[in-house]
Amino acid sequence: MTAEGSKLWGGRFVGATDPVMERFNMSVAYDRRMWDADLRGSKAYVKALHRAGLVSADEMAGILQGLDRISEEWSEGVFVLKDSDEDIHTANERRLEELIGGAARKLHTGRSRNDQVVTDMRLWLRDAVGTLTDNALVLIAAMVERATAEIDVLFPGYTHMQRAQPIRWSHWILSHAVALRRDVERLQEIRKRVNVLPLGSGAVAGTPFDIDRELLRKELCFEEVSLNSMDATAQRDFVAEFLFWASLCATHLSKMAEDLLLYSTKEFSFVSLSDAYSTGSSLMPQKKNADSLELIRSKAGRVFGRCAGFMMTLKGLPSSYNKDLQEDKEAMFDCYDSVLAVLQVAAGVVSTLKINADAMEAALSPDMLATDLAYYLVRKGVRASRTLSGKYTSTGTSKVQTLVAFRDAHALAGKAVFTAESKNISLNQLTLEDLKAISPLLESDVASVWDYAASVEQYAAAGGTAKSSVCAQVQHLRTWMTRHKAQT
Ligand code: ARG
Repeated sequence: MTAEGSKLWGGRFVGATDPVMERFNMSVAYDRRMWDADLRGSKAYVKALHRAGLVSADEMAGILQGLDRISEEWSEGVFVLKDSDEDIHTANERRLEELIGGAARKLHTGRSRNDQVVTDMRLWLRDAVGTLTDNALVLIAAMVERATAEIDVLFPGYTHMQRAQPIRWSHWILSHAVALRRDVERLQEIRKRVNVLPLGSGAVAGTPFDIDRELLRKELCFEEVSLNSMDATAQRDFVAEFLFWASLCATHLSKMAEDLLLYSTKEFSFVSLSDAYSTGSSLMPQKKNADSLELIRSKAGRVFGRCAGFMMTLKGLPSSYNKDLQEDKEAMFDCYDSVLAVLQVAAGVVSTLKINADAMEAALSPDMLATDLAYYLVRKGVRASRTLSGKYTSTGTSKVQTLVAFRDAHALAGKAVFTAESKNISLNQLTLEDLKAISPLLESDVASVWDYAASVEQYAAAGGTAKSSVCAQVQHLRTWMTRHKAQT
């Protein structure tokens, strides 16, 4: 059992803490990751104490030097934790006193670990947000690069996991890149709410000393000063937001991973992963498993579990600081580590995988052009009505009624699909006679429909899969990336 006198809060205790309770209460095993933030916070705080006349210039200089020494010890990996170090705040303060003596005991004047811990977390998370942003941008850049290089490759677009319409492979890649772009934007939004100074809030009531919180804000480069000391010490909504962000980002990438897993099967053979991101089987010598993608897929569950778990911790907590809040750190660190790894591995997978353009194009089948057959009829109807009336009008005159409504065109194209299926031939093998029996509007120029490249080029409205639209998406993301980098 540890002597209580050595604890930051030992004064009123006579009995010793049970060792099981001691371990249960300790957070230093994980909150030591915030050693740098903790020291930065203390360096700023001693300056505010000096300005308030609570420590002398000499004491301040001694404390600052001591804190720098501790920083070196942590950087060099020689900081020695003691059994009595409950958390990172205790450890750093204990070491400071060992190094500089009594003046260290003034550092905590007016400060509580309640405002200290949340200051550390905000400083740590602000840096973490920067790292995650950089890594997300690397991944987006890899996607954009790939989309540019492989823009001419066509493959099936699926809905309900059934062949739907031909699309560009680049269009698929960019569909995931634009989701990530939103993730980056969301992260910047969160950063604003993370970047608020809680220090100077004390335990619950604020500080009775002349602590210049504006000085603290400037020293620690926060954008704002917290408005209410109870909120500042107890709110962890910025952590919850981050955990949700991590869940959403991991979910986006899990979906991309799932597609790629499917595409990498022998049955699809659209892509093959680099050996650098694959593993083998201990039993089956032929196996090359896409473990990288499976792990990316799995992390979404883990990260959301953290988010849901922490929300349960927060729900119904009474006002102000409660020790339940100590749960915030493991959730935050774990989500950060997981998503950072996911982003890095995803960038590696995306930039090194090989595509099999022949297999992709071979997977296209004429039935995927049935929608285009319906569109052909719609266009034919427009042309027919133009011929009748001299000019097309959409004002609802009788001439316009000669247009083939899409619903009817859909039914006619469906009939063509049915006829082909009953004859056991593909859609493009129907004779002109077969087609004419379905609709007189189907003429020999219907042959132009059976062309995948031409099909894809029709989808030229913004956001579509035509080359011009995919190029515009690439351009948009490039411009956004440049602007984003310039801003940060
Ligand atoms: N280790 C604690 C945490 O992570 C630090 C704050 C402790 N505050 C207290 N009043 N016991 O939340």
